[in-house]
Amino acid sequence: MPPIEVELKDRAYPVITGAGRVKRLSALLRNHAPEGRVFVFYDARFYALHGSTVHKALKLPSERLFELTLPPGEKTKSLTQARKIYDILLGEKMTRSDFILACGGGVTGDLVGFIAATLLRGIPWAVVPTTLLAMVDAAVGGKTGVNHRRGKNLIGAFWQPKFVLGDLHFLHTLPFRQIVCGLGEIVKYAGLTGNKMLLQLKEYLRNGDFYNERFLAHLIESSLNYKAGLVTADERDESKRRFLNFGHTFAHAIENAAGYGRLLHGEAVILGTAAAVETGILLKPESEKYFREYRVIIEDMIKLVPRRRLDLKKIMGSMTWDKKRKKGTSRFVLLSRPGQPFIVDNPDKKVIKAALIKTLTKYQSGGGQYA
Ligand code: GLY
Repeated sequence: MPPIEVELKDRAYPVITGAGRVKRLSALLRNHAPEGRVFVFYDARFYALHGSTVHKALKLPSERLFELTLPPGEKTKSLTQARKIYDILLGEKMTRSDFILACGGGVTGDLVGFIAATLLRGIPWAVVPTTLLAMVDAAVGGKTGVNHRRGKNLIGAFWQPKFVLGDLHFLHTLPFRQIVCGLGEIVKYAGLTGNKMLLQLKEYLRNGDFYNERFLAHLIESSLNYKAGLVTADERDESKRRFLNFGHTFAHAIENAAGYGRLLHGEAVILGTAAAVETGILLKPESEKYFREYRVIIEDMIKLVPRRRLDLKKIMGSMTWDKKRKKGTSRFVLLSRPGQPFIVDNPDKKVIKAALIKTLTKYQSGGGQYA
């Protein structure tokens, strides 16, 4: 697929995705880091599988290359870990002519991007997303950050990368649950964009090979085109970019209620998307006819989510703590039909509860079929 441009004037950058694209790494680095050192941070699990491929593609002499692995998992996205890396990089006398490269999923990208944003008031950086979720969502748009004990991503900065380079070959070694996580964001994009993506998703699900590069490439391209447009229009998440939170107010509450780590973020997004669709229909019953196809797709997706005990009361209670609450406002992105998102603040609690009951009923009868 051709590169997708995030058009942010002097901070514009390409998102390059495709099979075997990692080979372009050395040319990109020649352009963006012609002289300085390149500090590469790998997710340790990814490094064990593909570290040597990336290392070869860098084509850098050892005196210009510094490589480090990071423990996988959400715990790595912490100020403690950031401090350790600051110590290492300052010990190496890093300067602003050096370059940082993050190779991994959302955790690696968010943490390493945050270090790039804050060290010496900003070091140029780039991302090689290695999970489906990072390829379609997390690696694009410059959101970086770490977690605080009061919540996820509460400390962070917007810091756009110089390029994003995703190689579809890396997806073949992802555990199935990680593919499902990416599908959570993809099903979100399908709702936000409408017809074309619904068709792509339907074909992908019908084909049944969840690792098929051709189908995944189409879904990734459609998601990225949409996201690049929103980031260009609203880099700092003050208006339209908020549509990307479709399904997420529910998802954060579901993740929390399940107990952190028991359901992965993308899995919760599948359930959150289902609940957001039902909320939209409850608020605008005349729209139900537009959701026939999307509902079927979502039901198929729900089957991919591992079965966990989810308590309605707990989910409702967790909603109060959602990060997107603004001065006591509970904000939901909903659809009046696929392709037409709108934002509602403080919808009737009874409607939210009814939408959750519908979703949990479907999940309890169909979820966990692949787990
Ligand atoms: N993942 C949502 C955003 O980048 O705004």
